Amino acid sequence: MSMNQGDLRKDYTRASLDPEDVDPNPLEQFRRWYDEQRSVTAGEPNAMTVATATADGRPSARMVLLKHWDEAGFVFFSAYNSPKGIELGENPRAALLFYWPETERQVRIEGTVSPTNRQEAADYFHSRPHGSQVAANIARQSQIISSRTALEQEMAELTAAFDGRKVPMPDTWGGFRVFPERIEFWQGRPSRLHDRVQYTRDASCWQIVRLAP
Ligand SMILES: Cc1cc2nc3c(=O)[nH]c(=O)nc-3n(C[C@H](O)[C@H](O)[C@H](O)COP(=O)(O)O)c2cc1C
Repeated sequence: MSMNQGDLRKDYTRASLDPEDVDPNPLEQFRRWYDEQRSVTAGEPNAMTVATATADGRPSARMVLLKHWDEAGFVFFSAYNSPKGIELGENPRAALLFYWPETERQVRIEGTVSPTNRQEAADYFHSRPHGSQVAANIARQSQIISSRTALEQEMAELTAAFDGRKVPMPDTWGGFRVFPERIEFWQGRPSRLHDRVQYTRDASCWQIVRLAP
């Protein structure tokens, strides 16, 4: 089967971005764009792609939800024994990617990854809906399972087992913090002459440059 999408194209006209106008701190610039996206989207502005790689360089990517960010990094939660968790264990570097179509923007973040401490993970874990807490105790993420019925059976058994009790946070569940070394803001512009502003971390401050589209 061959599917040609060559004539599917859109011109980007909504806004511009200039290195002279951005905030000197990329986290503040991210907050500005995040708030603008949040005000116009019906979707999840915190949905991001996380790219990881094995120690021998085989990449993989998947969506997760950004739950928190500050000067220490960008935090998401997952299973440490999932494929992404295992890859981050052997190669603690990741790339995060936000695509925000309503504002015609992309943000790319690259950096080093460390686990959050257990208390931070537990605080978030116990703030989640009860069903999500129970589900985190179900069979290991990304393993092959026999059927939807078996999954629902396991959920029912765990729900009964934890009835009236605080749901325990599995040892294998927790947060990942991506400490950014490079952050790039991309604003779509007409005729593919997009605006791209890159921040790279220097010893004491962030270097800001414009990149070719
Ligand atoms: C919008 C969206 C948000 C998601 N958020 C998370 C998340 O925060 N944590 C998580 O472990 N998986 C999340 N997932 C599921 C992952 O994409 C993925 O299927 C799962 O984590 C297994 O990934 P792995 O096999 O690469 O470890 C999300 C999926 C989507 C589509």
